[in-house]
Amino acid sequence: MKKIPSVTKAKNIQSVRGMHDILPVDYPLWEKATKSFREVIEFYNFTQMATPVLESVELYVRTLGETSDVVEKEMYTIKTKGGDQLAMRPEGTAGVARAYIEHGMSHQPHPVRLAYFGPFFRHDKPQAGRLRQFHQAGFEIFSSENDPLYDAQTMLAAYRFIEGLKIKGVTAHINTIGCRICRPNYRKALVAYYKPLEKKLCGDCRRRLPVNPMRLLDCKVPTCQPFKEQAPTTLDHLCAICKTHFTELLEYLEDVKLPYSLNHFLVRGLDYYTKTVFEFILDPVAGEEDLAFALGGGGRYDYLVETLGGKPTPAVGAALGIERLLEVMKRRNLNVPARTKERVFLIHIGDLAKKKSLSLIEMLREGGVNVIESLGKESMAAQLRNADKYQVPFALIFGQKEAYEESVIIRDMKTGAQETVPLLKLVAAIKKRFTSQ
Ligand code: HAM
Repeated sequence: MKKIPSVTKAKNIQSVRGMHDILPVDYPLWEKATKSFREVIEFYNFTQMATPVLESVELYVRTLGETSDVVEKEMYTIKTKGGDQLAMRPEGTAGVARAYIEHGMSHQPHPVRLAYFGPFFRHDKPQAGRLRQFHQAGFEIFSSENDPLYDAQTMLAAYRFIEGLKIKGVTAHINTIGCRICRPNYRKALVAYYKPLEKKLCGDCRRRLPVNPMRLLDCKVPTCQPFKEQAPTTLDHLCAICKTHFTELLEYLEDVKLPYSLNHFLVRGLDYYTKTVFEFILDPVAGEEDLAFALGGGGRYDYLVETLGGKPTPAVGAALGIERLLEVMKRRNLNVPARTKERVFLIHIGDLAKKKSLSLIEMLREGGVNVIESLGKESMAAQLRNADKYQVPFALIFGQKEAYEESVIIRDMKTGAQETVPLLKLVAAIKKRFTSQ
């Protein structure tokens, strides 16, 4: 059995590097994100599903590609006691495609539209917008036809999700990387272009040139940038089918007024893509230079299902990075207004009232009145201070006398006016006050 490291008492235990707590103060933003996600999936007819956090390593090696950064450098892998090699899911598309095949979804009426929301893991260098545990909201469409309409619809769903968070000034950077027919020619053209420059390239680019030359366009090393400018673009090497697909997609995007910008260098770092690739990026604004990351990305992956042993199934999808979106919301003060839900604060005084308070709260719950309390506190002043903190419009004061008489005092927190109401009429009296506020 593996030895568990011995306990050191001295140090406080902190969260693991790159993994964050979601604190109560941020939860309203998360709720906003899940609400926007729900609205989008309902409108565009996606059904939500979830895949396990642990999948076989092979799933990602086969689909994302051995030379992708995610597989090469960023996967959290685990060897089980039984000897299986597992990975903590670094992304959602491969798992959803595996589930699509495994559960016979190819027999369902198509398109099959699936959505997911959950945590993903990449052992990357933590920095602004880059975490080791992050969350994605994803949309995948498996169709029986290879129709650019679905590319447009996936992009729309992702874009509407961002819009639902009130984030403005977002553009879809878009490119096409061709298919099995035309991509080999493009790769050859890239190799021919880069080969004479090989000595000047960074180590990663030199290594990738013979195996995955398109990744050179994705390189962020400053000394490699000037070579990209002159590199051949996919557009000059597309087959007729890919060209038409791309043109039609751009027409759809124009019809629905989804802002896009052509970016010939966009290739995306995952091997499963074919034809369309895109990323959603904030338009540059002074003071937001550190938010220049992709808020989401995606593309078409027509061969992925086949790669996993399913029958050929054209598909397209997108995923959005929730933490990145929330970072933009916070920076732009797009904070969700404080809870406006109508709530009352229950203040008890004395043992008898305290004893009866729990059943009083249940009575209010049944009547549909939301209650906050700090029943553990005995002093009325401390309870009133809490009521103030929660900014409730009304407090309920439940003392010894009221407990005997089966009544409660309703106190208007703004005016200080108080009125005693019998318990039996309490729910109606509170509701009346809320409606006439
Ligand atoms: P991806 O571009 O690797 O694509 O990730 C999608 C989004 O997840 C990114 O645009 C970013 O917002 C967020 N993200 C990725 N890595 C991190 C990180 N380390 N920290 C914080 N946020 C991050 C995919 O994962 C594809 N599965 C998308 C897709 C769906 N393609 C087709 N369908």
